[in-house]
Amino acid sequence: MSAPRLEVTDLAASYVAGGFFRSGRRRVYAVNGVSFALGAGETLGLVGESGSGKTTLARVILRLTPASGGQVRFEGTDLLSLDREGLRAIRRRMQVVFQDPYSSLDPRMRVGETVAEGLLIHRLVPRREAPARVAELLDEVGLPPALAERFPHELSGGQRQRIGIARALGVDPSLVICDEPVSALDVSVQAQVLALLATLQRTRGLSFLFIAHDLAVVRQIAHRIAVMYFGRIVELAPADELVANPRHPYTVALISAVPEPDPDRRGERIVLEGDPPAPTLLPRGCPFAPRCFHARKDARCEREHPELRPVAGTLVACHHAEVDARPLTPYP
Ligand SMILES: Nc1ncnc2c1ncn2[C@@H]1O[C@H](COP(=O)(O)OP(=O)(O)O)[C@@H](O)[C@H]1O
Ligand code: SF4
Ligand SMILES: [Mg+2]
Repeated sequence: MSAPRLEVTDLAASYVAGGFFRSGRRRVYAVNGVSFALGAGETLGLVGESGSGKTTLARVILRLTPASGGQVRFEGTDLLSLDREGLRAIRRRMQVVFQDPYSSLDPRMRVGETVAEGLLIHRLVPRREAPARVAELLDEVGLPPALAERFPHELSGGQRQRIGIARALGVDPSLVICDEPVSALDVSVQAQVLALLATLQRTRGLSFLFIAHDLAVVRQIAHRIAVMYFGRIVELAPADELVANPRHPYTVALISAVPEPDPDRRGERIVLEGDPPAPTLLPRGCPFAPRCFHARKDARCEREHPELRPVAGTLVACHHAEVDARPLTPYP
């Protein structure tokens, strides 16, 4: 196999949060020992509850938030050691699409200017050719060229997200990090935007790191899925395998929350007790232990941190991953 396009190794990032006085400040370990690789033309989905560290992970890869440890290699380059100049050159190949395109689009700029901005900054087209290039990009994301004359507030949420995608594509990236790109959209519009992303991936050979808190969304587009809890990846598997045979109890709980149309396959919905812990104190044992319902949960879970390890072709961070974590279905 050729080298992965993106390779993240043991990445960590923390914040010092809260408190005007030193005594009130706490360190938040938002990302802790995360490793994965992403191939050319592949989509890795990243799911987890709000606060699990997904956005921080994206920001560290994009060098918008500093790492406190680990390594990021993108197309063979060590990103974390790049200087400003090197970073500028590589930014073009690595773009981002955010949840709320409204806040990332300048309200005073016409859509056409917004899409042209990156092209001009990176000198990809002469200024006089920019409008024609913008029209091509709008067409590629399924929008009429006339939209270039409009302002963001005149567009629907789905149209604005397509503009965000067109702007990212303009500079010809090989990796697009999508952070909750459809979470603010209605379900029918979500499906259209996901279909567009899948098409663009095929035609352009793009790699996606696709982040969402909703597993039902991620499974529609991801080839593999990484489940994040408490700043760590707790399970990583091919998407179909993860959904059919979840091995970490947290993944089991996430899947039980996804609506299943077939009543014969519907299982018990697992409601997790308590809130996700704030990652300020690093527990000695398994971070999921306070909410875990696994039948085999034992003293080792409280004592020893479960490392991510291979189990039956997937990666799982649970001491008891060999035993089915699913509760018995209540249906006869
Ligand atoms: N700028 C920040 N300063 C302090 N803490 C932060 C900051 N951004 C995020 N956090 C904390 O880091 C953790 C992970 O947050 P985040 O990466 O936004 O997770 P997600 O995207 O999965 O919701 C949370 O506990 C959050 O409160
Ligand atoms: S290691 Fe123990 S506490 Fe953690 S998820 Fe597995 S069974 Fe539950
Ligand atoms: Mg987030």
